[in-house]
Amino acid sequence: MHGGYDGDPTTRACAVPIYQTVAFEFDSADHGAALFNLEVPGNIYTRIGNPTNAVLERRVAQLEGGVEALSVSAGTAAVHYAVANLVEAGTNFVTTSQLYGATYTLFAHLFRTQGVEARFAASAEPEAIASLIDAKTRLVYCESVGNPAGNIADIPAIAAAAHQHGVPLIVDNTVATPILLRPIEHGADIVVHSLTKFIGGHGNSLGGIIVDGGNFPWDLHADKFPMLTRPEPSYHDVVYTQQFGRAAYVARCRTVGQRNTGATLAPLSAFLILQGLETLPLRVERHVENARAVAAFLRDDPRVAWVNYAGFATSPFHPLAERLLGGRCPSLLTFGIRGGFEAGRRFLDALGMFKRLVNMGDVRSLATHPASTTHRQLTGPELLAAGVTPETVRLSVGIEHIDDILDDLDQALTASQRDDAPSRAALPA
Ligand SMILES: Cc1ncc(COP(=O)(O)O)c(C=O)c1O
Repeated sequence: MHGGYDGDPTTRACAVPIYQTVAFEFDSADHGAALFNLEVPGNIYTRIGNPTNAVLERRVAQLEGGVEALSVSAGTAAVHYAVANLVEAGTNFVTTSQLYGATYTLFAHLFRTQGVEARFAASAEPEAIASLIDAKTRLVYCESVGNPAGNIADIPAIAAAAHQHGVPLIVDNTVATPILLRPIEHGADIVVHSLTKFIGGHGNSLGGIIVDGGNFPWDLHADKFPMLTRPEPSYHDVVYTQQFGRAAYVARCRTVGQRNTGATLAPLSAFLILQGLETLPLRVERHVENARAVAAFLRDDPRVAWVNYAGFATSPFHPLAERLLGGRCPSLLTFGIRGGFEAGRRFLDALGMFKRLVNMGDVRSLATHPASTTHRQLTGPELLAAGVTPETVRLSVGIEHIDDILDDLDQALTASQRDDAPSRAALPA
């Protein structure tokens, strides 16, 4: 709530001001040159940095236990910049397979066209990941809690495997949020988020962020990371590790990635996301409680075939949920309705309060069918690798009163079992 903002020196505004400006004035030609030379701190142009965004960056960096952060226009941009900052044509990186759909597509298809190979591990076991690392590997990537499979990564073990081979671990911590898990404390080097989800929390603004843990010894592995340890031709030969020390990685994301490709977060969006961040711990507490009640309700219901929720002692991820999340599981859960794909469709059509849409982490309860939406571009085997079956329904349990949530699920489950329930598409508008 307070981190990263000591008040506005000019106006004494208590709330973080929205600096909705593209550029910032220089005192003189020399001042402008010094700013561009990175000799003095200050603002230049919002594509490089903005004071409203800077508050958000400092606050999330503090929450994650990192040294500095860069906010960007969307979570996908954060994932892209985070990886692109360390790879070059001819290199590869190793990733777990259970990933958010657009991340999977970026890795499997887009990076490949640029000569960068994403190697998908057969499992999230550290040995499976380590076995794919070779001299050309530049990083290891995973989601702390996978979307939508809800799988939990053994971050300490995966970080150890990455470090043994001299490469950093990048973790997407969107689903867990720093309230449930702080990957840097468990050995991760870089954390990315879609701010669009729990951190913003109100479903009104896209945003992403890259947090630099500041611990990876780039200089020890200088041959692998020339972009950080040797003069950078695209920014008048600055040597990032010399100029920025522990924040070398994120400084390059900003001055090479964002400056030249422009996926900038609008200051107004930064403000709205900051509003969400102020209540994040309270909201997450309620999300966790509501999800626990929903999972128990579904597990005991004869209309439900299976429920995937790491809070159950029978879940393969339960030990990791206990060890890394303190037993507090995120409110993203998947389940299958008896009656397969058709019953799933009837269930979605019958939902009243739950919103049918492809977001998660909103204060409102949301439901989606990954196989026909977020993961639609994936092939059958890719779907299974991502932990999605045709009947899978994903819930993002909101913070409404639990009675309202359970009532809606109950009536939609009843409708799902009726063969004569009309499709919503067939109903008059
Ligand atoms: C785990 C995860 N990472 C990244 C993203 C991408 O975020 P955005 O939609 O903000 O681009 C998402 C979006 O759903 C996500 O679930």
